[in-house]
Amino acid sequence: MATYPSIPRHVAIIMDGNGRWAKERGRPRIEGHRAGAESVTEVLKGCIEQGVEYLTLYAFSSENWSRPETEVSALMTLLNHFLKAKLKDLDRQNIRLLTIGQLDRLPAKTRALIERTEAHTANHTAMTLVLALSYGGREEIVAAARSLASDAAAGKINPADIDGELFASRLQTAGIPDPDLLIRTSGEMRISNFLLWQISYAEIVIVKKFWPDFGKSDLAEAIEEYQRRHRRFGAL
Ligand code: FPP
Repeated sequence: MATYPSIPRHVAIIMDGNGRWAKERGRPRIEGHRAGAESVTEVLKGCIEQGVEYLTLYAFSSENWSRPETEVSALMTLLNHFLKAKLKDLDRQNIRLLTIGQLDRLPAKTRALIERTEAHTANHTAMTLVLALSYGGREEIVAAARSLASDAAAGKINPADIDGELFASRLQTAGIPDPDLLIRTSGEMRISNFLLWQISYAEIVIVKKFWPDFGKSDLAEAIEEYQRRHRRFGAL
């Protein structure tokens, strides 16, 4: 029988439930996000230990801009702290940082920290962490369509030559393999405009826990679930 890779090469996560985690404790929402940032660090470690090559995290969606100003700016501050604090770790662990999303909408300081970290880790090879920031799947697809239409109008490409491969090469994830496993926490069963094109064949695992309670062992369980499904698929 054919063998299949038992570890998903690319894991993508919709980190949901920070607000509810905080509410349950009578704490402000931002404390849920802070605790969520700790989970990011732990899950990153778990991915390295398990041999996952790509981890994509939905850290801020295009829709999240419509949250109250105080929450948006607190999330940006948290992201800035994360980027500053993690630079050494990413470097030491040979992890490359990439970002996807409409980065021009982010504060200048955050953009500068992202540019610095991306440049600094560009040649790292152990693993790739992709942060989806100000990201929306539909927006990404529209931008790819616009770029192809503009090339076609300029006579650079023939519309008849547009296929899946060419289309994917215009997405921000060009060069990154599609996710094998998509995890969403907090029990919600929605995709929420995340990687719409890329998750076509991903296995989806919904975990009831809120994101701040999600740790390495939960990642291991989600991978086991992926393996069970994958094995069944392989046996057909
Ligand atoms: C969803 O929970 C989570 C977010 C909108 C933000 C995710 C951010 C982090 C985990 C922390 C910062 C990230 C990094 C990479 C350092 P929610 O607020 O929608 O929760 P709710 O549905 O319970 O309200």
